[in-house]
Amino acid sequence: MISGTIKSGDWKGEKHVPVIEYEREGDLIRVEVSVGKEVPHPNTVEHHIAWIELYFQPEGSNFPVMIGRVAFTGHDDPMTEPRAVFFFRTSRKGKLQALSYCNLHGLWENEVELE
Ligand SMILES: [Fe+2]
Repeated sequence: MISGTIKSGDWKGEKHVPVIEYEREGDLIRVEVSVGKEVPHPNTVEHHIAWIELYFQPEGSNFPVMIGRVAFTGHDDPMTEPRAVFFFRTSRKGKLQALSYCNLHGLWENEVELE
């Protein structure tokens, strides 16, 4: 990540930070990424979360693999929730990283260890 351009923080107090929650069933990984879980983020044409991306960096690898990207394009009615579920398969452990993009406040990231 390029220092200074991607912000992070505690998602419980900073509404832009993506929340990463996962479940493992054997080698099937289900990951839910959401923005605004504790402190809702605005969702208007003028100010909204435009997309979320999820990456997985396996232990021993020196770069993350992109798992997927979801764009949110409804901001009135219908209004899309900045929340997405990704599925992928791996037997490996590693690091899950999520990026979220606010059209006014830029890029935000969070990461959790995948056990
Ligand atoms: Fe924002």
